[in-house]
Amino acid sequence: MEQRYDLSGSLLHWYDYNKRILPWRENKDPYRIWISEIMLQQTRVEAVKPYFDRFMEVLPTVYDLAKVDDDRLMKLWEGLGYYNRARNLKAAAQTIVEEYGGQLPADYDKLLSLKGIGMYTAGAIGSIAFELQVPAVDGNVLRVLTRLWGDDSDILKDKTKKAMGRRVMEFMPEDRPGDFNQALIELGATVCVPNGQPLCDQCPWDTVCKAYKEDLIDQLPVKTPKKARRIEHKTVFLLECGEQIAIHKRGDKGLLAGLWEFPNEGKKMDAEDIKEWMAEHHMEDAKTKAAGKGKHIFSHVEWHMEGVRISLKTPIQSENYVWVLKKELENTYALPSAFEIFRKIL
Ligand code: ADE
Repeated sequence: MEQRYDLSGSLLHWYDYNKRILPWRENKDPYRIWISEIMLQQTRVEAVKPYFDRFMEVLPTVYDLAKVDDDRLMKLWEGLGYYNRARNLKAAAQTIVEEYGGQLPADYDKLLSLKGIGMYTAGAIGSIAFELQVPAVDGNVLRVLTRLWGDDSDILKDKTKKAMGRRVMEFMPEDRPGDFNQALIELGATVCVPNGQPLCDQCPWDTVCKAYKEDLIDQLPVKTPKKARRIEHKTVFLLECGEQIAIHKRGDKGLLAGLWEFPNEGKKMDAEDIKEWMAEHHMEDAKTKAAGKGKHIFSHVEWHMEGVRISLKTPIQSENYVWVLKKELENTYALPSAFEIFRKIL
């Protein structure tokens, strides 16, 4: 017990002096904490900040989120990736309005039952917003704890996450569960960092950390290698006519569902293929120019893209795309980051 007390005491002391000032830490509004936690999954704090501020300006309450127009929501999320997270937010907001009178429930299982809220997020919201005694074990926390205990369990396994959650509960202080969970996350994000040099001389646990004492930092945490990503080749068509550009709305299922994109074909195309494609689309007389290459990495797939810029004299109509003004791509249509390199050259 003595050592457990020291672990949480020294951690909280460190946190009190070192925590970053972040917009979602200004108050304990559960809505703000929820949105920040969803944005912070897979995205760095510095990148999240401007998105968070803008989101709060446009959708300051759960009621605003529940009734936001889908395209507006996608536009607010544009660039953050994982667009289903935003769709789940809206669906959960509707449940919160309909079933919980517009208040996020102060109950772990009820939080967990909301769309898009998993164990980590339920733990983070529950502890930070409501001071519930629940763990919030994300990648940061797993790194800190496996190093602290010299534990070589595979951190990608659910079993490891659950076991770490149970161990965390053994030294969670009763009075400050939210700060305690945030302190663990903060330590992982700013001191016990991945890839390269953790700042062990600034760590409140340097005297007890097994990985530090036994020189195992480079070997922990253990992650089993993931399967290689599938590679998909794409030819992306930048069809332009003066200030207009053609875009296509993706289907409502699967990757980047319901978002806009430049018309494209799911294969590499040589000059001959492109000529044929243009003939099929009644644009054989148009001028073409190579428009660079781009690569975009999703969790399970990589897109390897080659752009073709086609300048048309008239905006040829097609059921496959619509014509919009180029400047509308900035504030009206949500174009995923994958296509950003092509948008930039327009
Ligand atoms: N990463 C995940 N949750 C976080 C939080 N509340 N503060 C800072 N970084 C985080």
